[in-house]
Amino acid sequence: MTDYELLDSGHQAKLERFGEWILHRPSPQAFWAPRLGQEDWARAHARYERSSQGGGQWVEPLRAPESWQCQIGPLSLELRRTGFGHVGVFAEQIRFWEWITAAAAKFARQRGRAARVLNLFAYTGGSSLAAAMGGAEVTHLDASRGVVKWASENADRNDLGTGSIRWIVDDALKFLRREERRGSHYDAIILDPPSFGRGPRGEVWKLEEGAAELLDAVVAL
Ligand SMILES: C[S@@+](CC[C@H](N)C(=O)[O-])C[C@H]1O[C@@H](n2cnc3c(N)ncnc32)[C@H](O)[C@@H]1O
Repeated sequence: MTDYELLDSGHQAKLERFGEWILHRPSPQAFWAPRLGQEDWARAHARYERSSQGGGQWVEPLRAPESWQCQIGPLSLELRRTGFGHVGVFAEQIRFWEWITAAAAKFARQRGRAARVLNLFAYTGGSSLAAAMGGAEVTHLDASRGVVKWASENADRNDLGTGSIRWIVDDALKFLRREERRGSHYDAIILDPPSFGRGPRGEVWKLEEGAAELLDAVVAL
């Protein structure tokens, strides 16, 4: 049961329902015309508007709370209206979670041991929690201490907090290189890097410059 719905998209925006709250957010890829009329879009409980100087803010109506609980696929997650316009879940990932759980469970059945899964750029933990639900030993890594804390709270909410997930705040590439030197190996590595990001010490991540190096480092593990 999922409490997420993409209600409509178009004119570079998307209208989504997360539980009882409907949000209107930018979506630059949605260059087509929306299917629903203005009265439906006006049902949004909060709208995020990008600013021409970069960044953006939530604007009227502000009827949606700052944070709330939501059942997204198999997971109960805390969602928050963040200053970047994100809410703690990237909806395109939801469909992978059941597959990840099933693959981890199948691995454990066939090999007689838990799969070792590394989730890089792991954000609020959807894929990490899905792997742990399938019995995997998960290393969850993100550059942001705040989102790693948020992810561990999501794990507690799903009774997955104890033991099966190792929480790491680090730069993805630096961690991979360190793991290679230590001779570490993983059975599966999950990657969903942003186009631009920063490590915890300001390390700059640019997808177009770093992707090949990142993939080489992943293959080494
Ligand atoms: C697109 S989100 C990942 C979404 C996630 N896969 C999910 O579905 O929930 C990008 C994440 O990468 C993290 N990040 C950005 N640069 C990083 C870096 N150099 N090393 C590690 N994490 C980084 C950000 O903090 C952010 O949480």
